[in-house]
Amino acid sequence: MRRRPAVLVLLLVAVAGCAEFRARFAGPDVVFIATPADVGAAMLRLATVSARDVVFDLGSGDGRVVIAAARDFGARGVGVDIDPELVATSRAAAHAAGVADRATFLAQDLFLTDLRTASVVTLYLRDDVNLRLRPKLLRELPPGSRVVSHDFDMGDWRPDREQRVRGAARNHRLYLWVVPADVAGVWRMRLGEREALLNLTQRYQVLGGTLSLDGRELMITDGRMTGDRMAFTAGALVFEGRAGGDALDGRAGDLAWSSRRVR
Ligand SMILES: C[S@@+](CC[C@H](N)C(=O)[O-])C[C@H]1O[C@@H](n2cnc3c(N)ncnc32)[C@H](O)[C@@H]1O
Repeated sequence: MRRRPAVLVLLLVAVAGCAEFRARFAGPDVVFIATPADVGAAMLRLATVSARDVVFDLGSGDGRVVIAAARDFGARGVGVDIDPELVATSRAAAHAAGVADRATFLAQDLFLTDLRTASVVTLYLRDDVNLRLRPKLLRELPPGSRVVSHDFDMGDWRPDREQRVRGAARNHRLYLWVVPADVAGVWRMRLGEREALLNLTQRYQVLGGTLSLDGRELMITDGRMTGDRMAFTAGALVFEGRAGGDALDGRAGDLAWSSRRVR
């Protein structure tokens, strides 16, 4: 009999952790605090938002970042907020701003939102929430998508760029990441007329590994992904290229190179 409360607590913890529970009953992970308008504009500029982009603001509050993306940058925007009243306010504001056709607002948990159609994600959450979100961003966003966060970073996923913005009340920090293509693995390479084996390791956008060429093993240095574009050095050769699934190609000085992933 005495073990019943413990079993009950375990059961409640298990239920509380499940996705459906979060969708229906979860409260906000972060309370609403608005990004000042000029800081929001700086976030969108840092992400080089244009009419080609679909901007998701995860935890969109009163909708101001999404509305600015549609009104001032010509983008399509999707705001996601767990608070239905903030979503209703955002929809009314989008109508008033004349961008209701390009700014959509969803009342739902950002952790349960499909991000595959986003090209830009904006965040003003908290560092622990960013860390929980990080695997989902890396899994669902296409390579080359940009993530901009107001004030909070992503732990050991270092930003590609950082910017300080002087606000009316305080200084704000902005962080930009470009989602890297996954290129880790072993690649059979053709470099001009020669064959080589490229063994790439990857930690977010940073590349390492070795290039086996002409019977020598060269260390990869200065290796970096920016979306689907890559650059690295091996010995005296400076490689630039582009990733597309299990294929890589590019140039190393005068030589063309191409690769196929074998493992
Ligand atoms: C700090 S505010 C940022 C608002 C807006 N992005 C801005 O920069 O002005 C965070 C917002 O996230 C929302 N939020 C918190 N947890 C959420 C969750 N799990 N899913 C969706 N929205 C959430 C809150 O309701 C709040 O409006």
